[in-house]
Amino acid sequence: MRPVSVWQWSPWGLLLCLLCSSCLGSPSPSTAPEKRAGSQGLRFRLVGFPRKPFEGRVEIQRAGEWGTICDDDFTLQAAHVLCRELGFTEATGWTHSAKYGPGTGRIWLDNLSCSGTEQSVTDCTSRGWGNSDCTHDEDAGVICKDQRLPGFSDSNVIEVEHHLQVEEVRLRPAVGRGRRPLPVTEGLVEVRLLDGWWKVCDKGWSSHNSHVVCGMLGFPSEKRVNAAFYRLLAQRQQHSFGLHGVACVGTEAHLSLCFLEFYRANDTTRCPGGGPAVVSCVPGPLYAASSGQKKQQQSKPQGEARMRLKGGAHPGEGRVEVLKAGTWGTVCDRKWDLHAASVVCRELGFGTAREALRGARMGQGMGAIHLSEVRCSGQEPSLWKCPHKNITAEDCSHVQDAAVRCNLPYTGLETKETWYWDSGNITEIVMSGVRCTGAELSLDQCAHHGTHIACKRTETRFTAGVICSETASDLLLHSALVQETAYIEDRPLHMLYCAAEENCLARSAHLANWPYGHRRLLRFSSQIHNLGRADFRPKAGRHSWVWHECHGHYHSMDIFTHYDILTPNGTKVAEGHKASFCLEDTECQEDVSKRYECANFGEQGITVGCWDLYRHDIDCQWIDITDVKPGNYILQVVINPNFEVAESDYTNNAMKCNCKYDGHRIWVHNCHLDDAFSEEANKRFERYPGQTSNQIV
Ligand SMILES: *[C@@H]1O[C@H](CO)[C@@H](O)[C@H](O)[C@H]1NC(C)=O
Ligand SMILES: *[C@@H]1O[C@H](CO)[C@@H](O)[C@H](O)[C@H]1NC(C)=O
Ligand SMILES: *[C@@H]1O[C@H](CO)[C@@H](O)[C@H](O)[C@H]1NC(C)=O
Ligand SMILES: *[C@@H]1O[C@H](CO)[C@@H](O)[C@H](O)[C@H]1NC(C)=O
Ligand SMILES: *[C@@H]1O[C@H](CO)[C@@H](O)[C@H](O)[C@H]1NC(C)=O
Repeated sequence: MRPVSVWQWSPWGLLLCLLCSSCLGSPSPSTAPEKRAGSQGLRFRLVGFPRKPFEGRVEIQRAGEWGTICDDDFTLQAAHVLCRELGFTEATGWTHSAKYGPGTGRIWLDNLSCSGTEQSVTDCTSRGWGNSDCTHDEDAGVICKDQRLPGFSDSNVIEVEHHLQVEEVRLRPAVGRGRRPLPVTEGLVEVRLLDGWWKVCDKGWSSHNSHVVCGMLGFPSEKRVNAAFYRLLAQRQQHSFGLHGVACVGTEAHLSLCFLEFYRANDTTRCPGGGPAVVSCVPGPLYAASSGQKKQQQSKPQGEARMRLKGGAHPGEGRVEVLKAGTWGTVCDRKWDLHAASVVCRELGFGTAREALRGARMGQGMGAIHLSEVRCSGQEPSLWKCPHKNITAEDCSHVQDAAVRCNLPYTGLETKETWYWDSGNITEIVMSGVRCTGAELSLDQCAHHGTHIACKRTETRFTAGVICSETASDLLLHSALVQETAYIEDRPLHMLYCAAEENCLARSAHLANWPYGHRRLLRFSSQIHNLGRADFRPKAGRHSWVWHECHGHYHSMDIFTHYDILTPNGTKVAEGHKASFCLEDTECQEDVSKRYECANFGEQGITVGCWDLYRHDIDCQWIDITDVKPGNYILQVVINPNFEVAESDYTNNAMKCNCKYDGHRIWVHNCHLDDAFSEEANKRFERYPGQTSNQIV
């Protein structure tokens, strides 16, 4: 498990002050979380989750009460003033809508307006102290430059908070039970504070607390433990306790968000009437097998999945997509927070969320946006149970697609060592014929040859190698455009010499009586979007691109797309040009500039946020259907079919349409990306004939 840094949350901000004053006698200047400058009597702090030491929800203490600032009218200028109050040189950004979680208590300032040069926030204008019509869902936050003001007593609040936070949680399995498989699902709870690992006193411990601990450890739920066994064990050991009085509601994404009390030094062996807390977690289906739990039925436990993550680099992270009326769609990031993200993570069999990501941080989806303003309490079994708004495309766009990063169990697989060999030094090949779906947690879980390795080292066989990347491109075809632009053309052979030379016609064209006669072509436009997080670049370097005289440009990939006509049972009856394209940015969405251009031996590729358009009227942008008999078919386009270039998601690379051909005209309808429908809806699609047609040519 990676260290999770968490900072204090307001419920125990109060506790913090009590502790400080009780242990120090009187408030000490070195721990007083305030800055004087021009803000007499005010104290400032950064709080919330998840955040770094120089960012967070801004809280101001006035007349002994901590409160927040509403985001109405908030600007970077106000953030500058607040960052200086907090001891930083300036602000680099600010956040709205309680990005670091909502505060509690007062909302001290609203419609705060600063010019940016004020000495103190008291010099800015506002509606007046405590005068606000906002809720805590509108709490403002700041991101300060990670640079302290000279002379400012360093890290006051932050230092104190840092000392009193739970940084990490782990389970220590009972000793004497033999080695257990990973992930560890049951054991004594240990928390890492700044000064090491400690046990937790279980006095008043509840299943809500267990729920939160399991969530942090990557498990969706908890179960009862055999308390007697652990009690016996506990009697034989000395424990050092770091926490007691833990009281979670159950919806917290992290133990630090629960009410809890820290021990004072020299007091840590006492847990009167209790013992060390023990927790037992229930792993999600993906991890059940490896932890030795009874393997759950793989075949659809409770009907079809209604939730999935797309575009992430690891399991348990990605853009959130939900199924509604048989179609997958995304979630708008308004009000998107850790509670909602945790509901998603647990529903998918992971723990709580580490991050609730906004602004299409895991790439943009295509098609519908199903939900907006999802407000979960954190207790809901499914995102659909949270209050939300149904929205239309005008309300929200895909640049606002919500995403999550979930807590995952520690499986030990992440730390497997990778060795980089010079292939000349390989002495043994241990695996061959490896075929993965991409969802496996380890290479062992992929299909591969048995103990017999068929791949002997020869001149033509090489050992496999990889280059890993956190981000990848994601190509999708604009399916609606295919449907809108499809038509039949009977094109005279005398206009097809170049196309024949480039292999853009069916084999029977060789037997034609050139230059007399014609070929029947199904033409349509292909618009290929890169909605991933890295540019799509051809695999081959420019030295190996091939010049195509006829079309006057370099082709950078041999096989970039497949265009096929299939029968309903999947038999191919016609195939298009295995198009070797010249990749470029034809157009881009707002705020993105074009980078790749085919002309003049330019660099080829598709930038994130751009698309490459092959209009229906350009050469070879067709399928030669001269030999196709009348009937019902499926038109299929597959991009990057041989997986030559890395993409974060290959399941959206195929597009299919229903296609009815009567020998003269063609009806193309129901065009959709392969991953756009539920399984159920996909079956309906394949069950020909389609009922309605909306394209007549
Ligand atoms: C406060 O800000 C909000 C949002 O910008 C605005 O609608 C409202 O009119 C402002 N109120 C006052 C009193 O300035
Ligand atoms: C706590 O223990 C340390 C050393 O273990 C000792 O120096 C200190 O005086 C003790 N404090 C109290 C309050 O007992
Ligand atoms: C949202 O849509 C669903 C199904 O389309 C419907 O059942 C629900 O009542 C709608 N909710 C709102 C708030 O419009
Ligand atoms: C292989 O390993 C040996 C010794 O470890 C080393 O000297 C040699 O350079 C390596 N590479 C090749 C290609 O043999
Ligand atoms: C698929 O359909 C075609 C004609 O539609 C037929 O010739 C072929 O035998 C079928 N193949 C299978 C495997 O059913």
